[in-house]
Amino acid sequence: MQITKAQFQCSSEKISQLPKDGLPEFAFIGRSNVGKSSLVNMLTNHSGLAKVSGTPGKTRLINHFRINDTWFLVDLPGYGYARASRSQREQFARIITDYVMKGEHLHMLFVLVDARLEPQKIDLQFIEMLGEEGVPFGIVFTKTDKLSASQLNRNVTHYKTTLSEQWEEFPPIFLTSSEKKSGREELLAYIGNLVNQ
Ligand code: GTP
Ligand code: MG
Repeated sequence: MQITKAQFQCSSEKISQLPKDGLPEFAFIGRSNVGKSSLVNMLTNHSGLAKVSGTPGKTRLINHFRINDTWFLVDLPGYGYARASRSQREQFARIITDYVMKGEHLHMLFVLVDARLEPQKIDLQFIEMLGEEGVPFGIVFTKTDKLSASQLNRNVTHYKTTLSEQWEEFPPIFLTSSEKKSGREELLAYIGNLVNQ
């Protein structure tokens, strides 16, 4: 899929404010600082579209980006940011769960995980919850530019082994680097197929 048009549509702090257009939504979720906003910019080829920061906790609202006037890419706040205040964490958690559980047009949630890390408990718990709730999801490894091919291969295999303890089938898995712009075609082709169904 080619992206010919990418525009910021709106930021929502609660689901009653979500766009009412009824277009299919594809959202990025994951720990704070994992690279969700960077991936929005990489996919759309639009460096300033979503706000990126080296400091965790940058994205605080549900941000909708309208793509080709046919679907939305959705950038969500990160979870698990230890230095946020408790009330802030609870507010983020509420926004995320509300959107994930009640967002009517969410077609697929991509859980972003840092390719350098061991499977993190918070991600595994989140993935388990998605399974229980029947939310369709995929896994996107980020920051693969920070690893050699063999390290990456080892980490992905390890992740799959961990997932296979809970799951009979693997979700779709994507390897990306916003820095190197890798994994872009695969992810866009996957979304494109779902949009055109
Ligand atoms: P929150 O909005 O705080 O939840 O973070 P986020 O998940 O949106 O992360 P963001 O895109 O803001 O990126 C966090 C940091 O990681 C920034 O310093 C990015 O430049 C860096 N980063 C993101 N993706 C990549 C990548 O693929 N490779 C490298 N090397 N750095 C990346
Ligand atoms: Mg962000």
